Amino acid sequence: MMLGRTLELQVPLIAAPMAGITAAPLRLMYTQAGASMAVSEMVIAATLQAGNAASRHLASWHPQETIRSVQLYGVRPQTLDWAVKHLVQERGVHHIDLNFGCPVRKVTAKGGGSALPLRPRLFRRLVAAAAAAAGPEVPVTVKLRMGLGPELITFLQAGVAAADAGAAGLVLHARTADQQYSPPAHWEAVQQLVQAVPGLPVIGNGDVFEAADAVQLMRQTGCHGVMIGRAALGRPWLFEEAAAMLAGQWPDRPPPNLGHVLRLALQHVTAWADWEQDELGAVLKMRKLIPCYLAGFSSARQLQRRLFAATSLADWHAAAADPEACGFDPSEPYPVQALRVARLKGAGLVRGGAAQKVVLPPGWLEEGSDEDDDSLLECLDEASCEGVSAVPVALFDGTAEFYVHVEHAGNGDAWLEVWGRALGDMDAAAAAALFEPSGWTRNVVKYINMLDR
Ligand SMILES: Cc1cc2nc3c(=O)[nH]c(=O)nc-3n(C[C@H](O)[C@H](O)[C@H](O)COP(=O)(O)O)c2cc1C
Repeated sequence: MMLGRTLELQVPLIAAPMAGITAAPLRLMYTQAGASMAVSEMVIAATLQAGNAASRHLASWHPQETIRSVQLYGVRPQTLDWAVKHLVQERGVHHIDLNFGCPVRKVTAKGGGSALPLRPRLFRRLVAAAAAAAGPEVPVTVKLRMGLGPELITFLQAGVAAADAGAAGLVLHARTADQQYSPPAHWEAVQQLVQAVPGLPVIGNGDVFEAADAVQLMRQTGCHGVMIGRAALGRPWLFEEAAAMLAGQWPDRPPPNLGHVLRLALQHVTAWADWEQDELGAVLKMRKLIPCYLAGFSSARQLQRRLFAATSLADWHAAAADPEACGFDPSEPYPVQALRVARLKGAGLVRGGAAQKVVLPPGWLEEGSDEDDDSLLECLDEASCEGVSAVPVALFDGTAEFYVHVEHAGNGDAWLEVWGRALGDMDAAAAAALFEPSGWTRNVVKYINMLDR
């Protein structure tokens, strides 16, 4: 697949951008496994321009990453212009993906994320600014959702506008924003988009759980490439399997057993600590991915507890080296039941995966002139993508552990990540009530207070 004139992807498989997750070490694991390209965590154009240290770190690559792909979020053409030029000219990026799919309520309430395509002129200006700043050598793709909700479908119009404004490709996460990460993705929308922008690469995204799904998505929709997010968490070899299947072969080995998976997890956390130059930070961040690595292994219950309790790489090594004390069987084969489980988001443990009500700024849907677009820009706030997200992670015993990610882009200490175990007696139902979407922020604050006790 070609993106623009210059970027050839040997295999049409791309690892999805995931905030707080797709740092360089994981991207490298993915590309070494078989993804052609792995997109960075989202970088906010305005904070990059402000010199924010966290944003600068997000926009950096491991020397072995051959394709430097970055996801950028911006709501002002001039800020995007600066950020894209900076990334291309000073950081040597090869690909830029613009995020127009963020479903977070707080973001759409200010007109950002998936609300932006509802203002076609502004949306067009943003894409055109990025494409012009990138120049002919660096392709800019646009990542969309289908729209905000069933009554606010935007992807066809937005796709055509983006193509017209110079986008080199489109990525469609085939859900509306109100659906967040469930129910099943609407692959038929990918097909509609392919037909709406003949000649432009369309990358389908959503609900590729197994290698065969990647083949099916391409066959069914005619899309040119596939982006995989959650299913590869804890399962980087999915890219190898998908690459084999896309080449018409069966994967030539079975999925790894528990011992092998544990080595991969150890490799990941070790590389993350090295990359962040922060061992404790990486070990804590890794907690959200432990259930992804160990999903479905029946002998991993105690091991999971040990790894959750780890505060150093030495703790990880000690647990991995002691199957007897941790009660796990390294030869346990990869569990079939883990293949089609939604990881991190949309897991259905709590109602966070169900439809949310989307909110728009007043007047956002009214027809306006170019001048109105300029006044809209005043309401838009790049930092509107600041926010709190909480991801419940199911534990083996039916209780939940929460990973709370607070993005606060406006100051020097930009990202705060909090991890904590729900109170001992909290079962999935109680957790669901705590994270009931309408009380989202209030409940997260309550939860953080609980942690402080
Ligand atoms: C934890 C998490 C963080 C994500 N962060 C981003 C992001 O920063 N930018 C973005 O465009 N999509 C983000 N996504 C959405 C994914 O890129 C992808 O579109 C979505 O998960 C659907 O694909 P999948 O079914 O293969 O996971 C995120 C998804 C998850 C689960």
